[in-house]
Amino acid sequence: MSAARGPGNALLELQGLAKHFGGVAATDGVSLAVRAGEILALIGPNGAGKTTLVAQISGLLRPDDGLIRFEGADITRAAVHMRVRLGLARAFQITSIFRGFTVLENLALAVQARSGTSLSFWRPAASEAALQDEARHYARLAGLAGSETRIAGALAHGEQRQLEVGLALATRPKLVLLDEPMAGLGPEESARMIELIESLRTQTTVLLVEHDMDAVFRLADRIAVLVRGRIIADDVPAAIRAHTEVIRAYLGEEAAS
Ligand SMILES: Nc1ncnc2c1ncn2[C@@H]1O[C@H](COP(=O)(O)OP(=O)(O)OP(=O)(O)O)[C@@H](O)[C@H]1O
Ligand SMILES: [Mg+2]
Repeated sequence: MSAARGPGNALLELQGLAKHFGGVAATDGVSLAVRAGEILALIGPNGAGKTTLVAQISGLLRPDDGLIRFEGADITRAAVHMRVRLGLARAFQITSIFRGFTVLENLALAVQARSGTSLSFWRPAASEAALQDEARHYARLAGLAGSETRIAGALAHGEQRQLEVGLALATRPKLVLLDEPMAGLGPEESARMIELIESLRTQTTVLLVEHDMDAVFRLADRIAVLVRGRIIADDVPAAIRAHTEVIRAYLGEEAAS
């Protein structure tokens, strides 16, 4: 096929990733490519291995077997902070918000952590202003313009999740891993989160794990389906919708529930 489908174009490439918990093969030889600029949704029933896969990508779990390449470099055994430095950001599962700080302070800390400037009492006024500007920029991206001075702990649940996306963006990631960003959100909050993820399309690449099929089919350029630790389909949304095995394994069950 065309070069665009080749592995050379993959930002993230997984080859035969295997992770067992006792007798359970949580990921059972997963091979998958995430291409630069796309929103790839990873769907599958509860317990399919989605979170286990994301944890191996972010470095929280070490695979038993297989390979992870990011921009061509083997990161299978790289530490979490190294992956973050290379441009891999994960939101939601580790709550990174400082609840007693304002939205802007949280974002400024994330920008600072990225740029490696340590907290200090003395900072030239110019760099302080640049830091505030950048923090404001991420507040806007996260849909929190106007809420900069609010205390993070007092934000609504959906706004806190938006802030978590903002914190991930402040690391200037090449790839953002989102594991169930809609979980626990009401309809209005979900709509706002969909809009936010949609706006990431021009900023970065997204691997989205989500059970909300409306969100998945609205956002995804491509959908990979994981069932019992194996990818059973990987295609454009229209093809996934029509895929018999997927319907039987997942969409049918969702529709029936
Ligand atoms: N730390 C662990 N120790 C033992 N078993 C685990 C552990 N983490 C996950 N598992 C098992 O591995 C399998 C995959 O779990 P995982 O959480 O990755 O699924 P998931 O697709 O994210 O599910 P969900 O949609 O419910 O979030 C399940 O059988 C789960 O019970
Ligand atoms: Mg999960």
